[in-house]
Amino acid sequence: MTSPSAPEPAPVPQPAPAAVPPPGCPAHAGGALRLYGPEHAADPKATFAALRAQGSVAPVEIAPGVDANLVLGYQSALEVLRSPERFSKDPRNWRALADGSVPADSPVVPMMMYRPNALWTDGEAHARYRGVITDSLGQVDPNALRGYVEESADILIDRIGARGTADLLGEYGALLPLLVFNRMFGCPADIGDKLVVGMSGIFDADADSEKANQILTEGLAELVALKRREPGADVTSWMMAHPAQLGDEEMLHQLALLMGAGTEPEQNLICNALLLLLSDDRFAGDLAGGSLPVDEALDEVLWADPPLANYAVHYALQDTEVDGVELVSGRPILVSFTAANTDPALSGERRGGNRAHLSWSAGPHTCPAKSPARLIAAVAVEKLLDRIPDIELDCEVGQLEWRQGPFHRALVALPVVYPPITVTAPAAADETPGAIAWKTETAPPSPGPTTPAPSSSTPQGGISTVREPVSVNAAPRRWWNFLAGSRRGR
Ligand code: HEM
Repeated sequence: MTSPSAPEPAPVPQPAPAAVPPPGCPAHAGGALRLYGPEHAADPKATFAALRAQGSVAPVEIAPGVDANLVLGYQSALEVLRSPERFSKDPRNWRALADGSVPADSPVVPMMMYRPNALWTDGEAHARYRGVITDSLGQVDPNALRGYVEESADILIDRIGARGTADLLGEYGALLPLLVFNRMFGCPADIGDKLVVGMSGIFDADADSEKANQILTEGLAELVALKRREPGADVTSWMMAHPAQLGDEEMLHQLALLMGAGTEPEQNLICNALLLLLSDDRFAGDLAGGSLPVDEALDEVLWADPPLANYAVHYALQDTEVDGVELVSGRPILVSFTAANTDPALSGERRGGNRAHLSWSAGPHTCPAKSPARLIAAVAVEKLLDRIPDIELDCEVGQLEWRQGPFHRALVALPVVYPPITVTAPAAADETPGAIAWKTETAPPSPGPTTPAPSSSTPQGGISTVREPVSVNAAPRRWWNFLAGSRRGR
């Protein structure tokens, strides 16, 4: 197994400043508010409200014994994100990890440790990795991507359609990005399963994180070896053929980043938007206003409940101040995208159609995949509501459980019920996620590592399921039927 690079030694640590506990707070961890655990997961807004009382930057605990500062103000967030000369992304600046006061097996370490990738580097190294990523993602044809998403969605809906009940998180939202990304990255099913198990495990930031990290690394090493032998018309092969000539270790780390970004946050954008659409009256049947409800719902999630709630970890290169709050060098600074987007100083600004939220971050490390990420989520949501129009939540919103890690806003499950639909190619009940992955393409003869990879116009492998959806449901149709119909020109 190839392990990710270990953090390099850093200078002697300085003690983190003590926080002032808000009186009577149940999530208080003895020095700073907890950004993890059941109380925070059940009501993150309460945590942010308590933290805001301390200023636009406040001390938090992100795992047992792991201290950080959290940026809550919108302007303060922009200041940190857009000042690479003052704030580094490189976790080798993290003093408490380097000196062992944060143990290497802390559950948050896999999501925060140094890896030679675009996310954790600055300056020239960052520009080189980011160039490979943006150039290769730029070769993805949006129409082909839309097709992958629709086909993936159909496969998954066929599996649950006749049943009348499903967990949209586990059976749709979590699997769809995996299918799409396996296809985009030329990843066969067995490797794809390892990647999703590994990636999902490290986002949970719990005791199994290290094991999950190993599974992820193993799967990625297998994918890199496969694509060196057999390049195809896929993002992995385009990255390998890039003039920057990334080595295997560098490829592995960019892929870990891309897979992480492409599966977990995507699943949470899809499911958080579905939850909103199924539970919030503002999104039920309001076609009269001429709005596009799926787009509005995605905007609302990206403003109010972003998939990455708190991340963009930075380190002050020298002791500095933001909005009057002292930030000691070497201590992690996280940006709360949720808190910044819901900063009371922004109140009164209209959210619908306004994309000035920070959910894709900002500055040099802003997400390079905003358009494909949004397209995937929009098509996934529209397709589901089109084929299963009369879907309902199978519990009260308040009964839904949220995962407890500090970084994401992620449901544990999204149970729904609906009148069963008829599918022409129902899936076998015992199918595993791997069994529904794409047929892999026929690989060309194995060339050397600098051989150009096939372009995005190279024909792709076929898809195993052919179906024509037939809804047997006679209940009144909801607005999303109209939406889907109008997009098909009906
Ligand atoms: C709903 C889905 C997504 C959301 C909410 C999202 C959000 C973000 C955010 C907030 C960052 C900055 C993180 C930080 O600085 O710590 C980021 C960076 C990144 N995202 Fe996305 N992302 C999504 C989907 C994707 C997809 C689909 C891909 C690629 C296939 C992708 C690739 C990346 C990469 C490579 C970076 C690092 C860029 C850099 O550091 O220069 N993201 N994303």
